[in-house]
Amino acid sequence: MMIIIAVIGVVVLGFLAFRLQGIFRPGPMSMALERFFLGNPLRMRYFGPRQSLGLMGNVEHQHVLEVGVGTGVIVSALAERVGKAGQVAGLDIQPKALELARRRVLQGAILEPELRLGTAEALPWDSGVFDWVVIVAMLGELPSPRRAGALAEAKRVLKPEGRILITEFWPDPHYLKPQLIRHYCADTGLKIVTIKRHPMIYSVVVAKMH
Ligand SMILES: C[S@@+](CC[C@H](N)C(=O)[O-])C[C@H]1O[C@@H](n2cnc3c(N)ncnc32)[C@H](O)[C@@H]1O
Repeated sequence: MMIIIAVIGVVVLGFLAFRLQGIFRPGPMSMALERFFLGNPLRMRYFGPRQSLGLMGNVEHQHVLEVGVGTGVIVSALAERVGKAGQVAGLDIQPKALELARRRVLQGAILEPELRLGTAEALPWDSGVFDWVVIVAMLGELPSPRRAGALAEAKRVLKPEGRILITEFWPDPHYLKPQLIRHYCADTGLKIVTIKRHPMIYSVVVAKMH
């Protein structure tokens, strides 16, 4: 009994430590943690592509960018959804993440996304080229004064009628509340057009204010 209590205590304290670090010293997760958190069966079951991308609807034939691809869980699902006639691009600040994402995508191999190394605050793509920019569990890894800058970049690369999808889920140590997303969007000339909430995960679809 004591061993079970000790194990639960270590897990809870470990999670609290991550959460506090996520709030007070945000930054990209180490690759060891990404491997553990992003591809595990629990994440795939409750916070995976189906839940994270539910608001996108049919994106066949479209041009989609994921910012912060991590180990490639979302970008590989996007590659399946756009189909052979679509195009998918992805970006991450960590070279190792891109390597893992590329490996995961190649397992499905519907189409190969164009994966680039870079930062969300200076996207290496021309303006007005994407139908969707997808940001899942990434924005909170930037320090708060830089989040609006990342959204401004997502807005720049969007087509005029394009949309940004932002999904946040609570077990992520960098989780951001919907009110904060609303605030960053307002700062960037973006408006929330749809929001879908579940107790531990929510998504918002964001559009340009015309
Ligand atoms: C928690 S992971 C989420 C990965 C993926 N979106 C998913 O849901 O499986 C966040 C990713 O964002 C990346 N990231 C953090 N800050 C970034 C930045 N400024 N520019 C680009 N990528 C960044 C990290 O390296 C990490 O791979």
